Amino acid sequence: MSNKTALVTGASDGIGLEFCNILAAKGYDLILVARRKSKLNEVAESLSKQHKNISCTVISSDLSKPQAAQELFAATVEKDLQVDLLINNAGLLQNGYFTDLDLITQENMITVNMLALTSLTHLFANDMATRAGGHILNMASLAAWIPIPNQNVYAATKAYVLSFSQALHNELKAAGNGVSVTALCPGYTDTKMMDNPNQGAKLSIPDAMLQSAQEVAEQGIAACLAGKPTMVTGFANRVSAAISHLFPKMTLANIAGGYYRKNLD
Ligand SMILES: NC(=O)c1ccc[n+]([C@@H]2O[C@H](COP(=O)([O-])OP(=O)(O)OC[C@H]3O[C@@H](n4cnc5c(N)ncnc54)[C@H](OP(=O)(O)O)[C@@H]3O)[C@@H](O)[C@H]2O)c1
Repeated sequence: MSNKTALVTGASDGIGLEFCNILAAKGYDLILVARRKSKLNEVAESLSKQHKNISCTVISSDLSKPQAAQELFAATVEKDLQVDLLINNAGLLQNGYFTDLDLITQENMITVNMLALTSLTHLFANDMATRAGGHILNMASLAAWIPIPNQNVYAATKAYVLSFSQALHNELKAAGNGVSVTALCPGYTDTKMMDNPNQGAKLSIPDAMLQSAQEVAEQGIAACLAGKPTMVTGFANRVSAAISHLFPKMTLANIAGGYYRKNLD
């Protein structure tokens, strides 16, 4: 029997790389997508050495470019690759004052975090439905649950991903085509996103509040393969998400704004 195939965006680093490690160990063939081709080739080589029974295909794509999702889908069709599991993980973050942050960078963040994710979901969900099965994992965040001043566009993109994915989960279930969508909501995770000079100000987070990328990826894959609509990773994050329903949104925004402005360098 042939292996199932997973496509992971943002596969060159962080949580995306951990998704690849876990899926390779489960015997999935992988399609690795990000901008840095050399980094993807290194990952593919390392995974192929560790797991002799899988194949890795590298596709370099900048998902902030117009039509990037359509071109990526077309590239998989051209290579005769059928995707059983799509992981829309690639994402960008910007911290700081909205009016000070570069507008084009914020537009690119919106494009990658929302538009490319939506287009890829549409293209691959239709393809999966023709084969009566498949899983899609969309990367949201704990930031999706509250308005976050000084990280407001990022949090809003993740609120979109959460709402879109939960509603689509219900639609696809009603359609009965065997395709499931899961929104994954990690809290602060120990990746370069927490310390990236290209994303505006740096938010200082105590180590105790950080989850490992491996832990996040494991919980995400388990929830996705089980066909769950939503997974908030880690007990403390689940408590935070539950508590967020008890307060008016502006109370949460005031608390988050005070915390972020105090801890952004
Ligand atoms: N870290 C956290 O605390 C945290 C918490 C909640 C949710 N998340 C979400 O988890 C996801 C992964 O984050 P991470 O922490 O693993 O970040 P990361 O370590 O910065 O990795 C980001 C990945 O996205 C790729 N990427 C960035 N821009 C891209 C573009 N324009 N086109 C294609 N690929 C692009 C990067 O590869 P290239 O540079 O090679 O393109 C890299 O592989 C994001 O959606 C993020 O919002 C993270």
